[in-house]
Amino acid sequence: MRIKGEGEKEGESLRSSRISGFHEMSLEERLRVVKEFAGLTDEEVGILRNTGSLGLELADRMIENVIGATHLPLGVATNFLINGKDYLIPMALEEPSVVAAASNAARMARMRYGFRASADEPVMIGQVQVCKLRDPQAARERILEEKGRILERANEQDPVLVKAGGGARDLEARVLNTRLGPMVVVHLLVDVRDAMGANAVNTMCEAVAPPIEELTGGRVYLRIISNLATHRKARAEASFPKEALGGEEVVEGILHAHALAEADPYRCATHNKGIMNGIIAVALALSNDTRALEAGAHAYAALEGYGPLTSWEREENGDLKGRIELPIAAGILGGATSVHPVARVCRKILGVGSARELAEVMAAVGLAQNLAALRALVAEGIQRGHMRLHARNVAMAAGARGEQVEKVVERMVKERCIRIDRAREILAELGRG
Ligand code: MEV
Repeated sequence: MRIKGEGEKEGESLRSSRISGFHEMSLEERLRVVKEFAGLTDEEVGILRNTGSLGLELADRMIENVIGATHLPLGVATNFLINGKDYLIPMALEEPSVVAAASNAARMARMRYGFRASADEPVMIGQVQVCKLRDPQAARERILEEKGRILERANEQDPVLVKAGGGARDLEARVLNTRLGPMVVVHLLVDVRDAMGANAVNTMCEAVAPPIEELTGGRVYLRIISNLATHRKARAEASFPKEALGGEEVVEGILHAHALAEADPYRCATHNKGIMNGIIAVALALSNDTRALEAGAHAYAALEGYGPLTSWEREENGDLKGRIELPIAAGILGGATSVHPVARVCRKILGVGSARELAEVMAAVGLAQNLAALRALVAEGIQRGHMRLHARNVAMAAGARGEQVEKVVERMVKERCIRIDRAREILAELGRG
């Protein structure tokens, strides 16, 4: 079957992406259409068909117009001790060195106490925008007077959430002056328990819009979650021994790197990107909404002028102390995280019992990632760091332990020969020596 594009006349070979009813086609039909459109070979179509443990059927139910599934490497970061509990942390991403860097930073943190992390109650903000008001201040007051009734209406939408201890908790309202005149923005504060929360919050916002219009005589347009989840922040801190970091000069360098991130948004974007390397990789492993996390993190970083999500200081004994704080709307229930088979296994590996615990883990990973990136940047540059991290993995895989690791790494890097057979030879020589 050849799909004719819109406006295509008989005999013309015009390629059009206007394909009516594409979403109603079977998966096989869609694959045939795309194959013809893009001139794919049978082998290439076979690659798309290989959807791994997700499976075509499940993929087809998750999003629209499905023609396959894509795969990312899934790694596990080791050494994480968070609030006294040991974690293996699944991370999905395409970038080398990130998993090794996180593991390495976590190894240094556990030389002290690991990570101390905490997370707020999982409260998300839903926004309801009320426009075309004759008296916006009076409208705001009417809404606040009827808070109880509005919250009740919101909670009627989700008895399961309410039974689980969640639900709409509070309501705030502000008058905002915009380009198109004043409007009232209502914030519905919803405890979403172990979900990311977008579905519950959006449903509630839509349900409270008609009574709010009735109360105020205004016109509601937007009814949607805010990804700037300032009521749902997570934080972590850790202390890194200066000897493990490479000495005083490395500590000094990291403090200078942090100062630059504070002073310069061009550097700060990259500083925060490194943090999100870790957080997003955990989110992807657990099929969480990565875009929501990114939006929340960067909007939070920009609240008082764009700044770093971490801070670093020297402790009295010369060690380096780091802190991170950011909104983390992570979920272990609902949506793809409950459906994707790999996400379900990853959650079991991670062993988190609540969305709050997941947020704490993500905060710790973000801090670890930042430390590892800054250390590599100030000590040896990121490229050499990549090589060293790779060499370290190879040395460990060859059986090097403790002080042997650095010795084997040093030799392999110097010789520019990073191979497991060479690592074994060096190890044997060290054993003889
Ligand atoms: C690379 O993905 C992340 C870094 O650029 C982060 C940073 O510069 O802090 C290394």
